[in-house]
Amino acid sequence: MTKHTLFDPCQLGDLSLSSRIVMAPLTRGRAANNENKANDLIAEYYRQRATAGLLITEGSQISRRAVGYHNTPGIYSKAQIEGWKLTTRAVHQAGGKIFIQLWHVGRISHPDYLQGLRPLAPSAIDPKITIRTPNGKKPSVLPQEMTQLEIHQVVADFAQAGANAMEAGFDGVEIHASNGYLLHQFFAPASNIRMDEYGGNPENRSRILFELLDALTQKMPVNRIGVRLNPSAHEIQGLNITKDTLPTFDYLIDRMNDYPLAFLHLSEPYTNVKDVPHSEPEIARRYRPIYKGNLMINRGFTAETAMKVLDEGLADLVAFGVPFIANPDLVYRMQNNLPLAIAEPSTYYTPGAAGYTDYPALDQ
Ligand SMILES: Cc1cc2nc3c(=O)[nH]c(=O)nc-3n(C[C@H](O)[C@H](O)[C@H](O)COP(=O)(O)O)c2cc1C
Repeated sequence: MTKHTLFDPCQLGDLSLSSRIVMAPLTRGRAANNENKANDLIAEYYRQRATAGLLITEGSQISRRAVGYHNTPGIYSKAQIEGWKLTTRAVHQAGGKIFIQLWHVGRISHPDYLQGLRPLAPSAIDPKITIRTPNGKKPSVLPQEMTQLEIHQVVADFAQAGANAMEAGFDGVEIHASNGYLLHQFFAPASNIRMDEYGGNPENRSRILFELLDALTQKMPVNRIGVRLNPSAHEIQGLNITKDTLPTFDYLIDRMNDYPLAFLHLSEPYTNVKDVPHSEPEIARRYRPIYKGNLMINRGFTAETAMKVLDEGLADLVAFGVPFIANPDLVYRMQNNLPLAIAEPSTYYTPGAAGYTDYPALDQ
């Protein structure tokens, strides 16, 4: 097995990355306009970070019904496609590569975002969490169980969003199938008690993802598609680890080998799951032997621990989230052992440039 360092190039199908450092998707709520389109400010933010081997954008809603956070950008309308062209041009001119994360939040939304409609979900089960609506924090609501027609529509919407992403000039897409959002809600029996072919056993609960991959590959090359999963999500968005969790992800990740994807993006646990029954605290170690393609790993890595995970052969790429917020030149800092700036959480989701594009790069 060839061992790589963080700073070695990486090949995703026909796409060459300059390093194995990936910017993880980060919602920043800066598409503060009526059409929820990416604008010049967003283009500047990604341009500043273009020295990453690969940028993955913030979650971007694939339809009007897919939204669940304030001022997140979409990728379903003509105006949104045009808006994203500013970003893809800026990143490519700076020599970077960029995928867009395709997102449907499912039940993690609120009628305040949906013109009074209820959020869509596999089953009518309230996640019982707090939702940040445009009108302040509110309790989540009982979602509407999706009909099969609505499931097929969501699959079609994802596929169209992939075509839109290509038109907007992205190098590829990442399907957001993690962190308790719509696709993850299908995987988990806590949010999916359907009696039809989309519920029940692992094969049925993961059916929507494979239908979606089949539809998406009609619209774009399979080696430009990544998938994000969070198998050890616990106490996140109303989901918990149960005895069904790992068998579902074992099935799903093994079946992912049928698709020569750009990458599979996995997260180590977001919360401490060591003492949680049926949990897997070491995701890369469990899934590296199962998944044959490019494996991207995330959550809590430093340059040092990232080097170690690559050196152990447990992953091919490492995605950094919060470190990229305050360090547009993260690659340079890591390469030269320079100190990292600390991000300010109070400006994560606020409109404007403050805490967004005003983190300086070090003089190089
Ligand atoms: C402000 C913020 C926004 C995030 N938005 C997204 C998102 O849109 N899509 C997603 O898959 N993960 C999102 N995440 C999770 C990150 O991609 C990443 O998994 C997390 O920050 C842990 O990685 P880190 O320890 O390197 O920061 C977000 C995290 C933060 C802090």
